[in-house]
Amino acid sequence: MKEGIKKKLAVLASGRGSNFVAIHDAIERGDINAEIDILITNKPSAGVIDIAKKRNIEVRVMESKGLVAGEFDRKAVELLTERGIELIILAGFMRIIGMPLIEAFPLRIMNIHPSLLPAFKGLDAQKQALEYGAKIAGCSVHFVDEGVDTGPIILQRAVPVAANDTVETLSERILAEEHLIYPEAVKLFVEDRLQIDGRTVLIDGK
Ligand code: GRF
Repeated sequence: MKEGIKKKLAVLASGRGSNFVAIHDAIERGDINAEIDILITNKPSAGVIDIAKKRNIEVRVMESKGLVAGEFDRKAVELLTERGIELIILAGFMRIIGMPLIEAFPLRIMNIHPSLLPAFKGLDAQKQALEYGAKIAGCSVHFVDEGVDTGPIILQRAVPVAANDTVETLSERILAEEHLIYPEAVKLFVEDRLQIDGRTVLIDGK
C-alpha cells in the first residue's frame, strides 16, 4: 500500500492502557499507516502514562476534576486542533466527552465499549451482562455522539458467556476481542474506508 502522509491520532485514556498498546503495536507492525501524536490523560496516576513514555509518545496530563462543564473539552479542542489531530481514540477514558469536543470532531472520535451495544451502556458493562443473565456478551467500537455509548457502531465482536464466568473471566475474554477490533476500526478510518449513512457505518460502501 502507498505510504502517503501519516494521519495523526490522539489517544485519551485514564487507566492501564491495554487498548492503547494494541493500537500502538498495530502501528509499529505497519498495519496502520498513522502515528499516535499524543496521549492525553485526566488521571495523573494512570498506568498508561509510563507505557506511552516508554514508547516515546508525548503525554499530556489534563486534570478534569474541579473544572466547570465544557472547560476540559474546550482545552482539549485547542490542543488537538493546534496539533492537526484527525482522529481521537478514547481508550478507557473515564470522562464523558462534552459538546465542544464532539462538535469540533464530528465522526472523528471513537470509543470502545465492553458490550454488544445498544445493550449494557455505561459503567461496568460486563457486570451488567452477567447480572442480566445474557448468554452472549461482547464489545463494540463506535463513533462518539452526544449520548453515552450511543454513537454509530463501527465494529462489534460477540463473546459467549460461560456458566461459571465471573466479571473478571468474562472481562478478560472480551478484552482479548477489544484488542483485535479497535486497531481494525482505526485502520479502516485511517484508510478512509468508513462512511456514514444515517446512523449506519458503511465499510467500503457496504
Ligand atoms: C476496556 O474494557 C474498554 O472497553 C473500556 O475501558 C477499558 C479500558 O481498558 N472502555 P484499557 O485501559 O485499554 O486496558
